[in-house]
Amino acid sequence: MKSRKESNSIYKHGNPLATPIVFIHGFPYDHNMWDKQISFLQNSYFCISYDIRGLGNSPAGDGQFTMESFVDDLEEIIDELKLDKPVLCGLSMGGYIVLRAVERIEGQLGGLILCDTKSEADTNEVKLKRAAGIKKINDEGVQKFVEDFVPTCFTEESIRSLTEYKETLARSLKSDPIGVKGCLLAMQGRTDTTSYLSKIKIPALVLCGEEDKLSPPSSMKSMSEKINSAEFVVIPDAAHMTQIENPEAVNKAFLSFLKRNFV
Ligand code: MLT
Repeated sequence: MKSRKESNSIYKHGNPLATPIVFIHGFPYDHNMWDKQISFLQNSYFCISYDIRGLGNSPAGDGQFTMESFVDDLEEIIDELKLDKPVLCGLSMGGYIVLRAVERIEGQLGGLILCDTKSEADTNEVKLKRAAGIKKINDEGVQKFVEDFVPTCFTEESIRSLTEYKETLARSLKSDPIGVKGCLLAMQGRTDTTSYLSKIKIPALVLCGEEDKLSPPSSMKSMSEKINSAEFVVIPDAAHMTQIENPEAVNKAFLSFLKRNFV
């Protein structure tokens, strides 16, 4: 059996003595989606990103992932790097990992940044979409799945004009089908973390793209209202991939939250 160290590629930037921030990417992407935030914050914070199992440079293995195993990986990264009260920052599937991690180990965390995500488990309709996605990968290949899915995460303007859109799509097209299917099953089987939101005590920033159709601003606003400590920010000119589509606005919101709450 492979050790955890062989399961996740981990990337570190900045001063290890500064406040740690762990960046957790969405599906079906990789750690590169945080490049603009990390280059902006690395002079003041210890920035850690990693590839979730089966995506980016992290091997898929047998693809038998669960949301719990994703949180186990995160906990082990926190332990291995001896991170003291890290801020967890997750987008979409990364946010599902953050929300379950806070339920499991809030006492070990410093704060939360939840981008374009949700606390509810999959509805029946979404479960069926995941199953259809797996069938599409089996029948037509992972590239067809990625080509159909990735554009739903961006605004039409981002698709037309952003080089980063093309780069992100090109990286996702190289995904291992076993890893992508494993992530779909892990998301499909995740628990609902809504009941814990009102118990969260650590500082939280909830951020959402104005045109996000996968986790729309109205549902993210209502999630943020359940967290006593949360501030809510809507990012203009962005859909689901806020940090790539409008990095300036995202960086500004991150920095102002971090400066207010951490050294
Ligand atoms: C993501 O961006 O991580 C995915 O859209 C999450 C999902 O499919 O639920």
